[in-house]
Order: sequence, then C-alpha cells, then structure tokens
Amino acid sequence: MSLNITVNGASRTVNAEPLTPLLHVLREELDVLSPKAGCQNGGCGTCTVLVDGEPRRSCLLPIAAVEGAEIRTVEGLAPPGQLSPLQEAWIHHYAAQCGFCTGGFLMAATAYLENGGSDDHTEIAKALGGHVCRCTGYVKILDAVSAAARGDSFDLTTTAAGLHTTLKGVDQ
Ligand code: FES
Ligand code: FES
Repeated sequence: MSLNITVNGASRTVNAEPLTPLLHVLREELDVLSPKAGCQNGGCGTCTVLVDGEPRRSCLLPIAAVEGAEIRTVEGLAPPGQLSPLQEAWIHHYAAQCGFCTGGFLMAATAYLENGGSDDHTEIAKALGGHVCRCTGYVKILDAVSAAARGDSFDLTTTAAGLHTTLKGVDQ
C-alpha cells in the first residue's frame, strides 16, 4: 500500500502494510534514526515523535493512522549542522549519557516548550512522565529543559564531550 507522510517538512511516499508501526517505517524505510526501538510496547518513550505537534509513541502508531500528518523528529529540530536551544541546553547540562532515550525526551520536551511550558521542574516532570532513562537520574534532563524554558545561553566549547555523546546516541 502506498502512503504519503510528511517528515520534517519533506513529503515522503512509503510502501507499507497499513498496520506497520510508524517507528519501523521511519527507521527501516526512511533512515530516520533518532526515534529508538526500546520496549516497542508504549512503555519507555524512546520512540516518541511529534505528530501534528503532539508527542506520540511511534511504536504504537500504525502508519495508516498518520497519513497526511506532519511528523517531526530530532533530525528536524534545527537546520543541518545546527542545534536547537533545547539541544544546546541538553549538551550543556550533560542530559545525555548513553543517548538512547534522548530522541524521545527531546521531542516531548520540544512539545512542552512550544506549548509555553515553564522552567518549573514539577511541570516538566509531568510533561515527560513515562519517559525512561537508565543513565541520568533525570535531574540533568529537568535542568536542561528548565534552562531552555528560561532561554539560557551556553558556551558549548566547554562541553565538547557531552556533544559527542549526544550526537552518537542520536545517530545510531
Ligand atoms: S519503543 Fe515505543 S514506547 Fe518504548
Ligand atoms: S538511557 Fe542513557 S541517557 Fe537516557
């Protein structure tokens, strides 16, 4: 079956069975690798993408359900070679360690910020509820989203190791 979806502003035609998960289409057909296959059962959040601005778990979404929708992933957060303010905050605060959860967290946090979310840790934790990170203890993630909500700016030349880890996780 031929379906049209829009991924990070580009119209894409895919051939897939209607019940094929969006996660599979993104990773295996379109080479969009930031959404990760974690639990593949809706429980970890690492596959989260934005569908028409809302964070959705792409492992649970049949491709036919998102035909015509605007899908956004980490690859679309900033122009090639650049980072969004949230990504910069993520690096500055070392909010990615292995990086496996990072794509899902970034997209959920992007939706939170685009909806006017504040720097309050309790509110951020609510918005990111259900996302699992095995590495960070979550405090660095809350700090990063909080900094982005405030509009903090950073000198990332002092956090080059964090940049390397973040990009490594997103690319795999
Ligand atoms: S892989 Fe989708 S929620 Fe875990
Ligand atoms: S699972 Fe490793 S940084 Fe979150």
